Amino acid sequence: PAEAAALRLGGEVVAVAHRGASAYAPENTIAAIDEARARGARTVELDVQQTKDGALVLVHDTTLVRTTDVKKVFPGRSSYRVSDFTLAQIRRLDAGAWFDPAYAGERVPTLKQGLERLRRHRLSLLLELKSPASYPGMTEQVAKLLRSEQWWTGPGATARGRLVVQSFDHEATYLSHTLLPGVAHGVLGKVPREQIADYATWVDQINPNHTSIDAAYVRAVHDEGVEVFVYTVNEPAQMRSAIAKGVDGIISDRPDVLLKVIGES
Ligand code: G3P
Ligand code: CA
Repeated sequence: PAEAAALRLGGEVVAVAHRGASAYAPENTIAAIDEARARGARTVELDVQQTKDGALVLVHDTTLVRTTDVKKVFPGRSSYRVSDFTLAQIRRLDAGAWFDPAYAGERVPTLKQGLERLRRHRLSLLLELKSPASYPGMTEQVAKLLRSEQWWTGPGATARGRLVVQSFDHEATYLSHTLLPGVAHGVLGKVPREQIADYATWVDQINPNHTSIDAAYVRAVHDEGVEVFVYTVNEPAQMRSAIAKGVDGIISDRPDVLLKVIGES
C-alpha cells in the first residue's frame, strides 16, 4: 500500500456519506455535500464521469435520465448518455427537482466544483472513477486535476488521509495509482481470498458490498495491511453487523444514522 494514511483516522469506523448525504438531498450535488456536512459526516463519496467535450462531472448513472430533467430539456434524443452531452449542455440541466422540488435549480457539479466545496467544509473524499473504460483518458484527466491541487495530493493531504480514489474497474484503479503515487487507492467489489496478497502490494482498501463479506474475510484483508470499507449500508441493523465484522469504514446514504450507530457501538 501507499505510504498515505487512508481515510480511517484514529480507531473509529469512518462514516462515508454516499453520493453526499443522498437520502436527504439529490445525489452527487453540492447540496448533497452540504447536507453530508450538516449531518456530521467528515467524508463524502462521489462518482466522476466525463462529458462529450472532456469535462469531469459528478454523476452516478451513465445516462442523465434518472437524476436530471435531460429528457425535458433535450426531447427526442436517441441516447442520453453523459458522453453524448457537452458540459455547456449539462450545465442547463436541473439535477435537484427530480428528488424534491425544494432542490430545483441544483446543477450537475464539475469535479472541480465538488473539490472546492469539500475543501471549504474540510471534508475528505472517497472518489469513484465511474465506468472509466467508457471514457478514454478520464483516469489520466482526473489524476491531472488532483495532482494540480496540493490540498488533495500534497504531502499534507496524504498524511491526513484526505483522499482515496476507488473503482470497480481495477485496471483503471491501478493506472490511477501509478499516476498519483502517495494517494490511497481502493478497489470496489470483493477480491477473491487468494488474490488479496497481490492486491495488497498496491491497494490501501478493498471495498465490497456489505452483504458479500464476513468477519473472516475482513481479517484476511487486514492481515495484508489493507482496509475494508463496505457499501451501501442504510439500515441500523446492517450497520451494526458491518461494525461487528470489523470493517474500517461504512458508506451510507444516511450518515447521521450511521454516526449514531457508530457512537453507540
Ligand atoms: O462507494 C461504493 C458505492 O458507491 C458503489 O456503488 O453504484 O453506488 O456507485 P454505486
Ligand atoms: Ca459510487
